[in-house]
Amino acid sequence: MLIYPSPAKINLTLKILGKRPDGFHELETFMVPTSLHDILTLTPIPDRKIELSCSDPSLPTDSRNLAFQAAQLFFEHTSINAGINIHIQKNIPHGGGLGGGSSNAATVLRGLRDHYAPEIPDQALRQWIAPLGSDIPFFIQPQPSVCRGRGEIITPSPLSTSSPQHAILIFPPFGVPTPWAYKTYAQAPCQGEESDRWGIMPLRNDLEPAVFSKYIILRTLKSWIRDQGAMGIIDALMSGSGSTMIAFSQPDADLSAFTVSLHQTFGTTFRVHPITF
Ligand code: C5P
Repeated sequence: MLIYPSPAKINLTLKILGKRPDGFHELETFMVPTSLHDILTLTPIPDRKIELSCSDPSLPTDSRNLAFQAAQLFFEHTSINAGINIHIQKNIPHGGGLGGGSSNAATVLRGLRDHYAPEIPDQALRQWIAPLGSDIPFFIQPQPSVCRGRGEIITPSPLSTSSPQHAILIFPPFGVPTPWAYKTYAQAPCQGEESDRWGIMPLRNDLEPAVFSKYIILRTLKSWIRDQGAMGIIDALMSGSGSTMIAFSQPDADLSAFTVSLHQTFGTTFRVHPITF
């Protein structure tokens, strides 16, 4: 039995550079893995069977699940005559712009490689898995990186600080579909606001204006979070295509006061999770 953490990512910058002939957008995004993670348990089984179970009953456990597709890819590419039982303990919210499904897929592929074919290099895994989703290659070896192209051209790039950074993730009670976010952006391309408040690097997400045009509460949430300096909050940014909002905080931020105040203002369906990265 193999147990792997499967981390969530956040985007500290997401710059859209243009539309590509293949319909995707050319990106430059700085992604970092976070302490929030799902837990994957991989148990080798005989034959070429793939079994998948998940603690979240709303997620599919058949070939619609990216983790299932990653296992299929591994056995197709290697012709290894074996199977795998996968269990996903879900902690990362679905549709939150945190890359949970992508992380699960990459972690399954890495786990199968480690167990059955450790000689296969990371770069081969990235090439196999890239067609399944733009941010999956990042999760083959999750580390702070600038990701270009669709997201699959990865340059590791440490944050310019060695101390762990603190943030609070705020999960609204709805997700934002990624294809919708990019489509809406493409109808009226415009940059997200760039902010220097955090001090480690400028924060910017070009999908914010498009997403905020429909999910108006997210614009209000971002602006409200940015006003909570008295509770140790420094700045706020939407992660990826949303709906998760990142509240960048001081290490000693008063999480319980912040949570009470958030729930009083936006309701208790907005959940909160502290992270480091
Ligand atoms: O690759 P992924 O499945 O994450 O992409 C979901 C959707 O987001 C794509 O179908 C596309 O509409 C949009 N997208 C894009 N440009 C990217 C990444 C995603 O237009 N670089």
